Amino acid sequence: MAHTEPRNSLARTPNRRQWLQRASTTGIGFFAAGNMVASLGSSAFSHPTVAEQPFADETYASGKNVAASVHPLATEAAISMFRKGGNAIDAAIAAALTLSVVDSHNSGIGGGCLAIVRTANGQVLALDGREMAPKLAHRDMYLRNGKPDGTLSQDGPLAVATPGQLAALYDLSTKHGYLRWRDLFEPAIAHAEYGFQIDRVLAGRISGEADIIRRYPETARVLLKRNGSPYAQGELLLQPDLATTLTSIANEGIEWFYRGPFAKTVGEWMGQNGGILSADDFAAYQCKYREPIRSLYRGYDVIGMPPPSSGGVHIAQILNILQDFPLPELWKTDRNQAYHLLLEAMQLAFADRAYWLGDSDFVKVPRGLVDPTYARTLAQKISRSQKTRFATHHVPADAATNVFDDRKHTTHLTTADQLGNWVAITSTVNTSFGSKVIVPGTGVVLNNEMDDFSIAPNTPNAFGLVGSENNAIAPGKRPLSSMSPTLVLNDKKQPILSCGAAGGPKIITAVLRILTAVLDENLSVADAVAAPRVHHQWQPDEAVVEERLPDSVVADLKGRGHTTRSIAASAIAQAIQWTSDGNLHAASDPRVPSRAAAYEA
Ligand code: DON
Repeated sequence: MAHTEPRNSLARTPNRRQWLQRASTTGIGFFAAGNMVASLGSSAFSHPTVAEQPFADETYASGKNVAASVHPLATEAAISMFRKGGNAIDAAIAAALTLSVVDSHNSGIGGGCLAIVRTANGQVLALDGREMAPKLAHRDMYLRNGKPDGTLSQDGPLAVATPGQLAALYDLSTKHGYLRWRDLFEPAIAHAEYGFQIDRVLAGRISGEADIIRRYPETARVLLKRNGSPYAQGELLLQPDLATTLTSIANEGIEWFYRGPFAKTVGEWMGQNGGILSADDFAAYQCKYREPIRSLYRGYDVIGMPPPSSGGVHIAQILNILQDFPLPELWKTDRNQAYHLLLEAMQLAFADRAYWLGDSDFVKVPRGLVDPTYARTLAQKISRSQKTRFATHHVPADAATNVFDDRKHTTHLTTADQLGNWVAITSTVNTSFGSKVIVPGTGVVLNNEMDDFSIAPNTPNAFGLVGSENNAIAPGKRPLSSMSPTLVLNDKKQPILSCGAAGGPKIITAVLRILTAVLDENLSVADAVAAPRVHHQWQPDEAVVEERLPDSVVADLKGRGHTTRSIAASAIAQAIQWTSDGNLHAASDPRVPSRAAAYEA
């Protein structure tokens, strides 16, 4: 691709004031300023937003090559790759690597990712870089005296699964990127080596987790000041060990990580500190290409991530259910009913999730879950006026036979370029700073993705999710995820929308809201990302509503029998839209100080 020097390096479109104006003209409510604490799951894993500055600047940009992520430095890193002549794949990888450094509470090379990628030649790929359970993991490893102990799957050495993100990024780079692998690391290494200013979100995460971080001396050495206190917003965080690790991976490739010094150091430390992750687990890790889930929603081809994500299955299932109702009309004439229908469809889907979903390499996940005929039977169980309590999951017609067996705290970032490459990557270390473990000398925050397994039947995980035997722990198995990178094609098979989110189970419902806002309501991508969200995950039996949802809608939902709980922000999403004038429009979530940007070659 022949990029030249930028005419307009960072196309800066609506600023915060304009966003506010747009929100008011589209009838989108505002966050209440002050004291805003956004919640993505249980309060312990809430995603802090910015109290006095609730609206992020520069959360929308349009142009020929675009990027959106949750951190301005990661978006800058993506744009810098376009500037060097890279494509959307290079840009996305550089952004993901930068997030490892500047946003390590959410994602990083010590975690995993799921990605939907559309290449310029029209190929659509679902890439699974999800972590795998170590080979010594077993079904009852978190039971103590017969009782599940969630602290073991959430913090410390036993919580760590084999990281997958780097394997996936490397595969994408070698097969589809333009730039050299080592070039993609430049921004990330610079921010680790020379430091970056801690923003309010990261400062909040460090101080919120400081007590647990102090239990791990190396993590405290890296993330806290010498006197043990948390850094404040605006202070510089230097991560020399992480810079060295990234430099080695840049120069020597992922072998250094999976089969070399990194794997060896981590394995030895785990052995000495009560962990089970070994160098052999690293050597055995493989990212996988899977068959994407495709469903037709009102003429659009919606493409999602199959198991071990639950996102693609349940977004397809919910859309199929909603197809039975005149949603485009209802968004105009009876928005209360539209929200009610979303909640009911979510309930049905999450009841199925708890029973059926798990890693399809290990268990049967019925393909019938995404069958439109099954959705019709579920739709018939929904009352348009009253909430129904669905006591259990349902059984699709072909439950026994059709499986997704293709054999063959989190962040979402997205990029697209003028050649037609689109990347949607959701990446995570799971909850804030993952396991809180940094193995001495590495600088890498290791995930606690083991908590995404069901550690015991009906035992809720950090996000209140329950699961069945299908999501029980087994060596080499991948924990079930809600991460839902999603791509939409129009009837000419052109990509018109990509989106995804962070927020545990609220990822699924946030993506759904963006899809219905764009496809049913014809909202612009920025308005769709900003639109108020509702969430229901079957258990607990409550409708979670954003504070910005008008009071009249909340009152109406209560009248229909929903128990509502209000939170400031449900999930943090990024999206890109293509419009027929040939422009790409990137939107990052205004709920946090995120950034969208464009580059004109
Ligand atoms: O894969 C999953 O579903 C979870 N590990 C995602 C965690 C998450 O989104 C945390 N967000 N703030």
